[in-house]
Amino acid sequence: KTIAVAMGGYSSEADISLQSGEVVYKHLSTNPKYRVYKAHILKKSWFVKLDSGEEFPIDKSNFSVTINAKIIYFDCVFNTIHGTPGEDGLFQGYLQTLKIPQTACDYYQAALTFNKRDCISVLKSHGIQTAKNVYVNKGDDIDPQAVIDHVGLPCFVKANRAGSSYGISKVKKKEDILTALEHSFKEDDEVIIESFLDGREVSVGVINIDGKIQALPVTEIISENEFFDFEAKYLGKSKEITPANLDDQQTNKVKELAVKIFKSLKLKGLTRSEFIFHNNQPHFLECNACPGLTEASILPQQAKAAGISLQDLFTNAVEVALQ
Ligand code: DAL
Ligand code: MG
Repeated sequence: KTIAVAMGGYSSEADISLQSGEVVYKHLSTNPKYRVYKAHILKKSWFVKLDSGEEFPIDKSNFSVTINAKIIYFDCVFNTIHGTPGEDGLFQGYLQTLKIPQTACDYYQAALTFNKRDCISVLKSHGIQTAKNVYVNKGDDIDPQAVIDHVGLPCFVKANRAGSSYGISKVKKKEDILTALEHSFKEDDEVIIESFLDGREVSVGVINIDGKIQALPVTEIISENEFFDFEAKYLGKSKEITPANLDDQQTNKVKELAVKIFKSLKLKGLTRSEFIFHNNQPHFLECNACPGLTEASILPQQAKAAGISLQDLFTNAVEVALQ
């Protein structure tokens, strides 16, 4: 089979996605069943990049590439794009239209999970506990006092459709709300302001493997910074403990909840949801439907803790997509 590892994307997360893509490429290429290519999906152009550094443009009409007068079509796309267009459904819709299987969830599920506010609201309707929130659009008249009356202080101001903590601030004083909003609006024209939930933060990978939807070992995140921001995520400013030091009841509860979310939202591929144990109950923060697969990312650590090699993890994702 011929596989394209799609990486990059148009958002601030492009550099992280290129790192995720390299990791997937490295491990998938060692599987003799596959011929693997790196497909860079960048704002300026889409191209296949060979190990030699040579670049060949992708024909967007059918997602093929011509290398040395030979046309290559792909049997499957391994989607490692974070942010738009690979995590929000646009790229999924394009590939679905062309009937090319890809490893992440379908276009609608991608659009839903990438929209923090809408995903929270759907999961609330399934009885899942979440933080209180206020949703604002660019250009709205915002009364900081009214926001705080609803969500309290401290609170989190987040770009509604972004990842890797781009556009997120923790706000402790009413006066800082407007600056935090400006920061978020750089990433997206929608913002969600959430109440701060005091408690331990955990992350749960869920995958479809051996014919079953299963949670991977839970990770507890202990950030040295005020919260699990970009620096904490990628520059070592956090402790990530896998498996998390929770009691069996807490572990089972949060794993079951993560699997319930995967099934309720009809997700596919590799996913990771975040929760806070607040008053001993897991509260849902967000679901990542194209999670980071860099050397520093959480899902690869969880797979390793489960005894699943990265080659097996990525091969499984391809095989499930091809079914
Ligand atoms: N958005 C980043 C890549 C993650 O969820 O891991
Ligand atoms: Mg995220």
